[in-house]
Amino acid sequence: MNSTAPEPHRYAVIGHPVGHSWSPFIHGLFAQQTDRTISYRLLDVPPDHFRSTTLTFFAEGGRGLNITVPHKPAAAELVNVLTPRAERAGAVNTIHLQDSHELLGDNTDGAGLLIDLTNHLGLDLVDMRCLILGAGGATRGILAPLAEANPASIVIANRTAQRAVDLARDFADLGEISGCGFDELPGDSFGLIINATAASLQGEVPPLPEGTVNASTVCYDMAYGRSETAFTRWANEAGAARAVKGWGMLVEQAAESFQLWHGVRPDTRPVLEALSAP
Ligand code: ATR
Repeated sequence: MNSTAPEPHRYAVIGHPVGHSWSPFIHGLFAQQTDRTISYRLLDVPPDHFRSTTLTFFAEGGRGLNITVPHKPAAAELVNVLTPRAERAGAVNTIHLQDSHELLGDNTDGAGLLIDLTNHLGLDLVDMRCLILGAGGATRGILAPLAEANPASIVIANRTAQRAVDLARDFADLGEISGCGFDELPGDSFGLIINATAASLQGEVPPLPEGTVNASTVCYDMAYGRSETAFTRWANEAGAARAVKGWGMLVEQAAESFQLWHGVRPDTRPVLEALSAP
């Protein structure tokens, strides 16, 4: 008899560019750990082809997709059903083909960040003054989970001040949230500063007034890399208590996606260790 192994279930991350993605490595380790055989590919697709590639992927048997820059808002438009957190973010980073053949869109970015901040870094966000740099999709994805942790306030500062003001207004029902330009920041310090701008990719740091950082400030860059980012270097030089790159967020958002697809949450510690993350 011909005993061929069943085809592995197919997953992928779609983005543009996407060659730098660690997702195949991370999901490969999660699958190994939970005794699953999966295939997880990289799909580098420009915006014009996002919709057709995604629909073809699922029509041809794909089970789940991760979505990365710049397709997260388009993914929210494409799916049949949104989870409440994806709807609030206006962005989708995980699509799951359900038994009903509907595409469910979720956003696990904010949960990933919060797990890293609270479980791995041990931060107590209650009553903390938080500053988010940037007012794009990355900020939109983390605002609600951060606000739900009951910080004293969240200030969004952005190069284009009006975008920060508009974004703060959209989330004003969730707490003390305001928006401004970098030069309008008050001179006093914050407990947590999250860099959600694309500035690190260009090796730049947003121009922050002196005094935003003190010796107990935790600076978190949603970007990550082998060496220091421009923002973590700046934070260390400014005397922050800690300067952390976004490896933990990356692995935790992946674990949340994995759980949605497979119904089991993998242990993230060995994966973080494999990535030599701090
Ligand atoms: P994403 O979905 O990754 O958030 P985005 O929506 O294009 O991408 O937003 C990028 C963010 O990085 C914006 O807040 C952008 O500021 P503007 O709104 O003024 O464009 C910010 N950004 C990009 N390059 C920057 C730089 N060199 N310095 C400061 N902010 C920068």
